[in-house]
Amino acid sequence: MTPTATNTNGNGQKATASSSTYLSKNPEIAQFSQFCQNNSGANANPRTKEVIDSLMAHLHAWFEEVQVTPEEFLMGCDAMAKAGKMCDDKRNEFILLGDIMGLETLADTMAHERARKQATEKVEGAKGTATKALPTSSAILGPFFRENAPKYSMGHDIVQDHSTVNHEGKKGEATYMYGTLTDVDGKPIEGATIDVWHDAINGLYEQQDPNQPEYNCRGKFTTGADGKYSYKCLKPVAYPIPYDSTSGDLLKLLDRSPMRPGHIHLFIRAKGFQPLITQIFDRSCPYLQNDSVFATKDDLVVDFAKANHSQAKDCVWELQYDIRLVEQL
Ligand SMILES: [Fe+2]
Repeated sequence: MTPTATNTNGNGQKATASSSTYLSKNPEIAQFSQFCQNNSGANANPRTKEVIDSLMAHLHAWFEEVQVTPEEFLMGCDAMAKAGKMCDDKRNEFILLGDIMGLETLADTMAHERARKQATEKVEGAKGTATKALPTSSAILGPFFRENAPKYSMGHDIVQDHSTVNHEGKKGEATYMYGTLTDVDGKPIEGATIDVWHDAINGLYEQQDPNQPEYNCRGKFTTGADGKYSYKCLKPVAYPIPYDSTSGDLLKLLDRSPMRPGHIHLFIRAKGFQPLITQIFDRSCPYLQNDSVFATKDDLVVDFAKANHSQAKDCVWELQYDIRLVEQL
């Protein structure tokens, strides 16, 4: 173990003080962590140093706690290399790994709590004159989002090919989804873009399935002055996350299911407002309580109703879902 906690970086510059407040309870491990942290130079990026110093200290304590062996360390490196080889412009295995360990959900939840706190303070600051509405809850982006989805006019069908079937030969159930986008005071938001995407009835996103057209089940819509949005889509179905690489290896070793409950992804961007990335979940899905990436939230669970809306022609289901954004900080 390194005998001293003082150090300079490779350029001979004096190290900046560590910003990590966490250190192992084992004095030798703590001293080693401090030594590694002090190897940073005076010009270190402050946020990078804060994050990496803390990460190193936690990893050192974690290695000690579970007594990681050199062989296990190399196994982990091989697993990361395998994950890297699976990454391309349509798939990021590291997002999947972070998801199945709850990391993306945790980062998302913390960010959303900050947004909720801001909205609550706004309501309290208005001394009762504002509405009691809170911003719509967020959820993780996941690995299947793609920029540059087709831009459609309101009411358009995002499903380019309705011929896809599941393993029972069943086609997807057309759904009319609509609602109003507002701020937390209920004022409609004009000029917001709504990206929507979901899987096909076979449980695959278009980039996973060579038989689906490019950007199938994806669309981008822009709100008018009334803040209203609408489109036709499918009632989403449950699917397994890709489990043919490192994430799948880990799920098998932990005897965990790869399934995700049926959901529709939304990514909403509006000038002057915090972007909202979220998912809405079908209450009738049997995997609702067993989401492999821990993204399900109670207030994002919705009930699809039998189609009755005048614009829901040829649809089986309809769903009204109003969305509230919180202003940019
Ligand atoms: Fe998804």
